[in-house]
Amino acid sequence: MSKPTENRLWGGRFTGASDPLMDLYNASLPYDQKMYDADLTGTKVYTEGLQKLGLITSDELTAIHKGIEEIRNEWQTNTFEEKAGDEDIHTANERRLGEIIGKHIAGKVHTGRSRNDQVATDMRIFVRENLEKLLEFLSGFIGVLTKRARQEIDVLMPGYTHLQRAQPIRWSHWLSCYATYFTEDYKRLKQILVRVNQSPLGAGALAGHPYGIDREFLAKGLGFDSVIGNSLTAVSDRDFVIETLFWSTLFMNHISRFSEDLIIYSTAEFGFIKLSDAYSTGSSLMPQKKNPDSLELLRGKSGRVFGSLSGFLMSTKSIPSTYNKDMQEDKEPLFDALTTVEHSILIATGVISTLTINKQRMEGALTMDMLATDLADYLVRKGVPFRETHHISGDCVRTAEELKLSGIDKLSTAQFKEIDSRFEADVKEVFDFEVSVERRDAIGGTAKSAVLAQLEALEAQL
Ligand code: ARG
Repeated sequence: MSKPTENRLWGGRFTGASDPLMDLYNASLPYDQKMYDADLTGTKVYTEGLQKLGLITSDELTAIHKGIEEIRNEWQTNTFEEKAGDEDIHTANERRLGEIIGKHIAGKVHTGRSRNDQVATDMRIFVRENLEKLLEFLSGFIGVLTKRARQEIDVLMPGYTHLQRAQPIRWSHWLSCYATYFTEDYKRLKQILVRVNQSPLGAGALAGHPYGIDREFLAKGLGFDSVIGNSLTAVSDRDFVIETLFWSTLFMNHISRFSEDLIIYSTAEFGFIKLSDAYSTGSSLMPQKKNPDSLELLRGKSGRVFGSLSGFLMSTKSIPSTYNKDMQEDKEPLFDALTTVEHSILIATGVISTLTINKQRMEGALTMDMLATDLADYLVRKGVPFRETHHISGDCVRTAEELKLSGIDKLSTAQFKEIDSRFEADVKEVFDFEVSVERRDAIGGTAKSAVLAQLEALEAQL
């Protein structure tokens, strides 16, 4: 047998006991208590709105606010006692308020309000606070990337396509690539925040407020930028959750690619970077192992965040307007994604600020064949069409291979001339990696000036 129904706010119509498993199944308090603060603040401002309407007296308001602060303190100090019938954070807080200030006054706080506009309000406040925190951590992370990029601007390494050596780049260019991704994430998050920060409060269960509450006043009091203009939308809209989950998924997608590169660069075969001990672990069997677990987790956790997005999209698909209990399924994926993203940003920041690079290995991985394009460009500068020079450069690569030379740079000027008479002695100047990266000085390129300009532009956006 389950517990009596008297604690339930909606208990009036329900006399029978419910299935205890149903109580568990229905309850969201185990996870939505995370929003206790938003819920209490929401009630505080809502009751101010009621008082303005003369629905509660100023003495009652004072008592309510005092009670709310007492409850807040209980949550903060871990002394809030949950009781049977506390279905969610909203019912728990209201039940407790009644115990502290008496049911007569506490019974007025929900006038004209429904848990439908209440939960939507709490969620938006909660999401807003979390996104603001993420913005701060993200900007710290980007700052570490750009700082490192400035410090190590002189280090060259291979750039890859298809994970095959392609053209020389600066290590800083790689750092700046991800700093660019994360800066776009930062800007995208700010845009999402604008849509998150709208107030559903005062929409009631679905049809609006019967006492003409000042919704602008409520919105302002809760730090919202605007009021959601339709009461049905106000209670049913979870796009802000979906957008947050999408943002999180995309961010984790970027982080997983960033991590994968670093995992590859940290292998003995590459040896470009070494993770600090703080972000690696050993093997329980093989004493020599140092594993990049931090990066593997960053890569792996991207999957669970993507799962949260797709799961919740499935939950909301085809539900009728307006509030339906399916929507309670917004919380666990959202909370999990926010925590995962927050920790991931902090771990990635730690990894990138403590790893060490091996300049010799990075530059040692550059090979002369990576300058085959530069060789083609050499002839372009002498007026030969690129399609032709591409072919000629290919001939040089093949000839060097056939002659078993260690690289195309080892062909003599005579051998170059034999392949194409337009080659001259200055062809040797092509075979310099630094010259190659410096040539690419257009916006976004590998030249030092171009990379520094990127870093400056990124820093200016934060
Ligand atoms: N715990 C519920 C949720 O998160 C609160 C809203 C309940 N509303 C309702 N009509 N039963 O969705």
